[in-house]
Amino acid sequence: MTETFHAAVIFLLFLLLNMASTRDNMYLGHPKLNAALTCRLVGGLTREQRSVCHEAPDTTAIAFEGLQLAVKECQHQFRWHRWNCSSLSVKSSNPHSSAIMKRGFRESSFLYALTAAGVAHAIAKACAQGRLLSCGCDALGYRGSHDHRGRTRVNNKWEWSGCSHNLGFGIEFSKKFLDVREKVGDLQSRINVHNNDAGRSILSSHMEVRCKCHGLSGSCQLRTCWRTTPDFRVVASTIKRQYRKALVAAQEGQINNGMSVLKGRPRGRRKSKPRPAPKTSLLFFERSPNFCEVDPRTDSAGTSGRVCRVGRPSRSGACELLCCGRGHSLVRKSSIKPCNCTFHWCCTVDCQRCRDDRWIAVCK
Ligand SMILES: *[C@@H]1O[C@H](CO)[C@@H](O)[C@H](O)[C@H]1NC(C)=O
Ligand SMILES: *[C@@H]1O[C@H](CO)[C@@H](O)[C@H](O)[C@H]1NC(C)=O
Repeated sequence: MTETFHAAVIFLLFLLLNMASTRDNMYLGHPKLNAALTCRLVGGLTREQRSVCHEAPDTTAIAFEGLQLAVKECQHQFRWHRWNCSSLSVKSSNPHSSAIMKRGFRESSFLYALTAAGVAHAIAKACAQGRLLSCGCDALGYRGSHDHRGRTRVNNKWEWSGCSHNLGFGIEFSKKFLDVREKVGDLQSRINVHNNDAGRSILSSHMEVRCKCHGLSGSCQLRTCWRTTPDFRVVASTIKRQYRKALVAAQEGQINNGMSVLKGRPRGRRKSKPRPAPKTSLLFFERSPNFCEVDPRTDSAGTSGRVCRVGRPSRSGACELLCCGRGHSLVRKSSIKPCNCTFHWCCTVDCQRCRDDRWIAVCK
């Protein structure tokens, strides 16, 4: 049932996207009407987000691709954690409607940063690929402001040219579409916006410069350079590192118009002084549960049945940690694989089919 619904939403987004790129293709009737339907079907949007969706349905569709990218990366980064992000992909196509996003855990802060970066990333790239009518390449945006080392070389002329990924547009839309969820202005929504910003700053700091040489037979008399978004895995890994050093948000609220954090760990009754939170730091305010048992309130699927790694207890995914002390059992898993392949002139390969039996450890 939810699967079908999910598929329907993706299908509609897909149709909408095709319509946006080929204007004269009107097989679905009135485009405004269709946008209205799509924006209503997508789950978990706030009223404000719905109105952004109506205003810019094609950009919103790309934003959803960015959210899916973030979910996929989350599952990769947390594949050996007790909480492994699996709940985000099944419930709806919108990760923000999941229970963990309503909490203040370390994991929540990671997700806010990752989804905000994912949306900006997908849109910056889509602009440069010509998939959106409302934006294009960022051709001049960085001229002058970002001087590159190549420029100072005397005989090597260098200039920004070509089609840069439009990070500015991506970041603006990420703010417009995601930060608008946090309109209450309480501590929790300010923390969420801070974490969104942290994700976007981390993305900005990883933008890459690609260059191409021009001139007779590769003499490179002139180099043209453009900026591209990095592989999203790199951004996600950096956000993951920030997740490990995430800071506790201070209760008192703001310092210098930004968020503040507690200096050091609050020990006993000793008062710890708040200080401004660094821009790329993730902030959280709620202690995470251990995610050992099933609990829908914290999006915990429990770890029973999880594949774990036997061996050093300190290794990530070690059975000791992942199984929460319940222990593990060994399960025989067999599969058929091609083996003993021989090459015959010319050109066939003959293989036998062999059973591959393996023991895997599974949490009790
Ligand atoms: C994540 O956890 C769920 C629930 O325990 C499990 O079904 C799924 O296979 C896990 N995913 C990975 C990649 O281990
Ligand atoms: C490969 O072929 C050899 C000889 O035919 C056989 O003895 C061996 O068992 C085969 N290997 C596998 C993995 O089946």
